[in-house]
Amino acid sequence: MYKVLTLNNISLAGLERLPRDKYEIASEIGHPDAVLVRSTKMHEMEIPDSLKAIGRAGAGVNNIPVDKMSDQGIAVFNAPGANANAVKELVLAGMLMGCRNIGPAWDFARSVEGTDAEINKAVEAGKKNFGGFELPGRTLGVIGLGAIGRNVANMALQLGMRVVGFDPGITVEGAWQLSSEVEKAGSMDELVSKVDFITFHVPLVDATRNLINAERLKMMRDGVVILNFARNGIIDDEAVSAAIKAGKVYAYVCDFPSNLLKDHERVVALPHLGASTVEAEENCAIMVAEQVRDYLEHGNIRNS
Ligand code: MLT
Repeated sequence: MYKVLTLNNISLAGLERLPRDKYEIASEIGHPDAVLVRSTKMHEMEIPDSLKAIGRAGAGVNNIPVDKMSDQGIAVFNAPGANANAVKELVLAGMLMGCRNIGPAWDFARSVEGTDAEINKAVEAGKKNFGGFELPGRTLGVIGLGAIGRNVANMALQLGMRVVGFDPGITVEGAWQLSSEVEKAGSMDELVSKVDFITFHVPLVDATRNLINAERLKMMRDGVVILNFARNGIIDDEAVSAAIKAGKVYAYVCDFPSNLLKDHERVVALPHLGASTVEAEENCAIMVAEQVRDYLEHGNIRNS
C-alpha cells in the first residue's frame, strides 16, 4: 500500500484517482510515500525519510522548498494551467472592481442608513463619487504569458481591449496558444508606460520581487488600474500606497490582504480566491494525483 498524506482539503475528484486497494490516504499518517498539499508552507516541516513525491494542487510551488526536496530525491509535481480559467474569471471581476469602483461603492451603499426615502436621497447624492470607465478600447498589459496570462490576454481581446504582453520566457507552445492580436512589448518598462490596466501572472522568485516599484510606477499612465492575482511581493506595497495617495494609481486589486493597503479606499484585497472554484480545485487535484500515482507506481515523470 502506498501512503498518502493530505495536508489540506484536496478535492475528492483527485483522491479518487488513487485506487483504495493500493492507496491509504489520510490527513495524519506515518511514513507517507507522498504528500498532497495546497497552501500549507512546507519549509519548516520535518520531511520523513519515506517521502518520494509531493503534489501541489495549484500552479505555484513557493510553499514547497523545491531545491531541498530535489537534493533529497523527492519529486515535486504541480498543476500548471489547471486553475487558469478560475483565475482568469477573477481577474475579469478585478478589472471591473477597479474601473467601476465596486469595492468603495459597496462600502458606501452598505453604510447608508435611514428610511427608504433617506437612503434614496443619500445614494443619489453619493453615487457621483463612484463613476468609472469601460473596458473596450482600453489597453491591458499582461506580465507573464503562461497558461493564466494567456487566458487573461485572449479574454481581454474578446472584450474589445487592446492587449500588450511581456514574457521573455514564453514557450513555443505558449506562443501558439496566444492570439496573434496580442502585441509583444520588448521590455517591462516599455509595457508599463503604455497601458491602462496591468496584470501580473508570474511566480514570486528573486527576479520578480518588487517588479513594480516606485520607479516603474512613475513610468505608468496616470489613472492606471493594477491587478495582482499572482503573489504578494511582486508589487511593492509601500510604493503602490504612495502612488494611490498621489492619484497616480486609480485602483489596486489584489488577491491577498495587506496591512499597509487595507485602509485605502481604492484598494480591493481578496483572500487568495483566484483558484477557489469547484472546477479548479477538482482539476488541480486530479492533475497532481495522477502525476503522483504515475510516479509512485511506474517512476514516470510527466510534465503536465
Ligand atoms: C496557485 O498557485 O495556483 C494558487 O495559489 C492556487 C491556490 O489558491 O491554491
